[in-house]
Amino acid sequence: MKNIVIIGCGRGIGLAAAKILSEEHHIIGISKTGNPELNHPNIEFHVMDILSGNPDEIAFPEVVDGLVYAPGSINLKPFNRLSVENFKNDFEINVLGAVKIIQKLLPNLKKSESASVVLFSSVAAKLGMPFHASVSASKNAVEGLTKSLAAEFSAQKIRVNAIAPSLTDTQLAAQLLSTPEKREASAKRHPLQRTGNPEEIAAMAAFLISDHASWITGQVFGIDGGMGSVKL
Ligand SMILES: NC(=O)c1ccc[n+]([C@@H]2O[C@H](COP(=O)([O-])OP(=O)(O)OC[C@H]3O[C@@H](n4cnc5c(N)ncnc54)[C@H](OP(=O)(O)O)[C@@H]3O)[C@@H](O)[C@H]2O)c1
Repeated sequence: MKNIVIIGCGRGIGLAAAKILSEEHHIIGISKTGNPELNHPNIEFHVMDILSGNPDEIAFPEVVDGLVYAPGSINLKPFNRLSVENFKNDFEINVLGAVKIIQKLLPNLKKSESASVVLFSSVAAKLGMPFHASVSASKNAVEGLTKSLAAEFSAQKIRVNAIAPSLTDTQLAAQLLSTPEKREASAKRHPLQRTGNPEEIAAMAAFLISDHASWITGQVFGIDGGMGSVKL
């Protein structure tokens, strides 16, 4: 049984990852708000805002085998309506929150025989899309962080990978999927003709945490219905 820390496990992809991983592992979950679905003997849940909170207040296990950092943003606006503050906020939640918890848990990850860190990018990092300037800038930073840390931590056998989803049916994307017309239009933009669901993104996170992925590091996996690499 591995010790897996999941930040942002209250809903969406983080919650789906907690459900899959808690079948076999001990989960230390942190999120801004709780969720009764987290009531499971293998899940130890802490309410905390990862940006303003102090993770030193949590007694993490001495050995941490996995870390999934799921908080993020979809802040879509024309460039001239994006403030510098918007860019800073997106960078904070997508990048600096991950930096903070990785720095906190690095000593614990080093003690694992098979440590794995999973971060979240977006299809909009590699594909230029209108109105995505701020989130794309932050998610490209996540991808840079992923590759740099994969290199730096390889000597300690800590793997670092990222998942780059396209539009996935969670609360974060609710505004983009709020009407049947929007849902249909979004589905049609994907080569596989549909949007994603949190379980299929979380399944990749669970795979990357598992020992089946023990020779994979420094990668960014597009789970995106083909959007990031296929043009019809
Ligand atoms: N959904 C998509 O279409 C999509 C597309 C591309 C990339 N992504 C990326 O995939 C990742 C997961 O997305 P998602 O759709 O599952 O997001 P979500 O529905 O917003 O869920 C994020 C979870 O993180 C928690 N959280 C947010 N800020 C936090 C903070 N400061 N401290 C602690 N917990 C915090 C939220 O807590 P609360 O419930 O309390 O707010 C929530 O439980 C994100 O990085 C996102 O950018 C998603």
